[in-house]
Parts: sequence; C-alpha cells; structure tokens
Amino acid sequence: MRSVADQSVAELGGRMSVLSRQKSDHIELDRLLQRLGESTHEEQLPVLLDLYRLVFPHAFAEESVLWPVMRRVLPDGGELTLQVEQEHQEVNELVTRLEDLELGSVERQAAIDRLVDVLREDVRDEEDELFPRLQERVPAGRLRLLGLAWEVTRRIAPTRAHPIVARRPPGNVIAALPLSVLDRSRDRLDALRLRGAGRGESALLATTTALTRAAHSIEHLPAMRRGEDSSTRVDPRPGRPRAAASASAIAGVLLVVALVRRARQRS
Ligand SMILES: [Fe+2]
Ligand SMILES: [Fe+2]
Repeated sequence: MRSVADQSVAELGGRMSVLSRQKSDHIELDRLLQRLGESTHEEQLPVLLDLYRLVFPHAFAEESVLWPVMRRVLPDGGELTLQVEQEHQEVNELVTRLEDLELGSVERQAAIDRLVDVLREDVRDEEDELFPRLQERVPAGRLRLLGLAWEVTRRIAPTRAHPIVARRPPGNVIAALPLSVLDRSRDRLDALRLRGAGRGESALLATTTALTRAAHSIEHLPAMRRGEDSSTRVDPRPGRPRAAASASAIAGVLLVVALVRRARQRS
C-alpha cells in the first residue's frame, strides 16, 4: 500500500480524482502551516483566516461525501473514519477556543501549536492509510466522480469551526446551508476589518461577534446533531436554554439577510 504522497497524478486517477484534489489541498495546507509558524502574533490572524477557509470546507466535504463511501466499501471503514472524525473534532474545538483566548497569550500559542500538530496528523492518516485503502476498492472513474461531489460540497460548505454539529450525516448536511451563510458573511467582514476599516472597525467587530454567537447557537439545534458518534459529541453548555439559542440563531440569519440587502442596494 503506497502513500498518496508518493504517487503521481496519473496513478491517483488524474487531476479530477478526489485523491489528486485532496493531495493538492494538503500541499496548500502545509504552505499555510509553515507561514503560520513564521508569523508574529498579529500576522497570525490573516493566516488563520486563510487556514480556516481551506480546512473547514475541506473537512466538511470529507465527512459528508467521502467517509460515508469508506464506511460502505471497507469492512473496517467505521473504525478508520472515526479516527479522522475525532481529529476533525479536536480541530473544531481548538479553533473555537482560540476565539476566546487573548492574542499573544501562552494559552493561545499552545492551542495553535496543538492545532498544527493535529492538522499534520490528519493529513498523514488520510494520505498514508485511508486513501490507499479507498484506492484499492474504488476504480479510477468513481474516484473522479467522487472528486466532483467532494469539490461541489466544499464550495458551499461552512468555513468556520462548529464543534457541536455532528461530524456525520444527516446532522452536518442539515447544518450546512445556514452555517455556510453565516460563516461566509463573517469571512467577508473579518477580511474588511483586517484590511483596516478605520472608524467602522468597532461596528464590524460587533457584527462579526453577533454572527459568531448566532452560528454557535444554531449548532445547538437538535436536528444538526443527528448521526453523531458519541466519541465526537460535545454536550451543550449547561443552563443554555434552547429557546434562547434558537432566537439568537434566527436573529443572526436576519442580520445576514439585512446586510446582504443593504450591500445590494449600495451597488
Ligand atoms: Fe484531507
Ligand atoms: Fe481531514
């Protein structure tokens, strides 16, 4: 069994194959992790945003498109995919923790160091173990079809950490649309803020904070937790009333709709 890292594009089933697409994303991830390691605390912020935009849609599409196929075609697919789902879960929890840790603090740097280690482990598990096993069972034509399904899913997937949402269908699929709308709005506002929004900076910060809260509230809706394995399950914070979670989720979606309408009116 040869690692995907040691195979040519032709051996992986061509450029459209899901294995070639995965490998090129993993190379981009490695480049971003190196940039992160060379960055000052302030410089880390835009690099982390680029990292989230690559990592979360990539992993979401694995969880909703690829791992269900691995569970169907491999007798030990359940065990293999659970291991990477646990790694993805840890990435989601670490990034959510980063939202509350002070820039430059020892705790924040420790969380970033662990994040880098888990992401590297995840790539090794996929390229050395999971994908060569998938390659043994699935012909090149089907790897190309899977590549298309994975790519389409990745383009409409959430771009931020969502530790409460199920790592498996149907919960993660149900969560995709509302969370993707909120996350991609956060991406645009954060990018504007990091470019320097002058006097508008505090308004942008307040809006992204509200969107972050709304996204984390949506995660608590029971439909989005369906299908979860107990080992990747995070219980809702105690005392958090479901009605309040739903209300702030709806408020978040309304806020996004209002922002989009305003932007359209201006253009
Ligand atoms: Fe991957
Ligand atoms: Fe992964």
